[in-house]
Amino acid sequence: MTPHLLDILRQLSHDEFRSGEEVARRLRISRASVHNAVHEAESLGLRVQAVRGRGYRLALPVTWLDVASFAPPLSACGVHSQRLDTLDSTNAHLMLLAQSGAPHKSLVVAEWQGKGRGRRGRIWLAGLGGGLMFSLLWRFNRPASELSGLSLVVGLGLAQVLRDLGLQGAAVKWPNDILVDGAKLAGVLIELAGDMLGPSAAIIGVGVNVLGAESLRPALDQPVTDLSEHLGPHSLDRNVLLREMAARLNDHLERFERDGFAPFRLDWQALHAHQDQSVQVLTGHGERIAGQAVGVDDGGALLLATERGLQRFHSGEVSLRGAAA
Ligand code: BTN
Repeated sequence: MTPHLLDILRQLSHDEFRSGEEVARRLRISRASVHNAVHEAESLGLRVQAVRGRGYRLALPVTWLDVASFAPPLSACGVHSQRLDTLDSTNAHLMLLAQSGAPHKSLVVAEWQGKGRGRRGRIWLAGLGGGLMFSLLWRFNRPASELSGLSLVVGLGLAQVLRDLGLQGAAVKWPNDILVDGAKLAGVLIELAGDMLGPSAAIIGVGVNVLGAESLRPALDQPVTDLSEHLGPHSLDRNVLLREMAARLNDHLERFERDGFAPFRLDWQALHAHQDQSVQVLTGHGERIAGQAVGVDDGGALLLATERGLQRFHSGEVSLRGAAA
């Protein structure tokens, strides 16, 4: 990404056209730089309308991340926020910071990730301005082996925020995807650092599709959706989403630290996308096990009623019976 790209894009809006000349004058750069930036933005998934004699405008109402909007309320609950325009991955960045002593509750959010990480070694794609991507560092006094249920607590918090913002169809897929009508809206990647026997640290990475999911579909092997498809493009301010999600995670993680997953179990099941449905679990060994998803236990393991009785899964991929995992 060229250095001025985001500065240039922040000069544009969806509401009115602004000429390349004016953008160039405001930023003290050349008109050619503005022109090139618009082309680069298109290649990164952000559509910009260009009309001769009028200038440029964003095809969709993108709200750029603004520290002043989310950092003060989050700092009131002890979260230290950092916004970056571009990096490889907020998880990778925060992992490095954690290893060099970053404080508990450090949060990194980025406008663009060059190498966004997904679960199981996948990549996480998001068009420029179209996703919310952030990571939160949580330091636990317990070893990583005692954090079972953590990823479910995170998914639950995200789904609850989305419902509170009006997305009644938001549901959790075990262990922590967020689905709407079977299509993926958000994902969570938790990476652990520190001593497995002593205090541990979790980098909790969250990616939410906000706008422009249709441009991601050709590159993905599963149904995806975005917030604009359900709430309309104008109702979305990524700053509000970030603020609400990070605050909810903070509340839930404080409780999880005290009481574990058990108090969240029934709330999680109430939002479980596959509760009581016929599913199959693809295990780490490549085995497919069919059964009815009857819920989760107090440690967050998936409970599957199978022909051979009740089975418990601590890892694996769930899909509806007959669909690809
Ligand atoms: C998944 O595969 O569902 C998990 C996706 C997690 C993506 C987020 S985006 C912010 C954070 N940084 C990353 O590199 N990945 C996570």
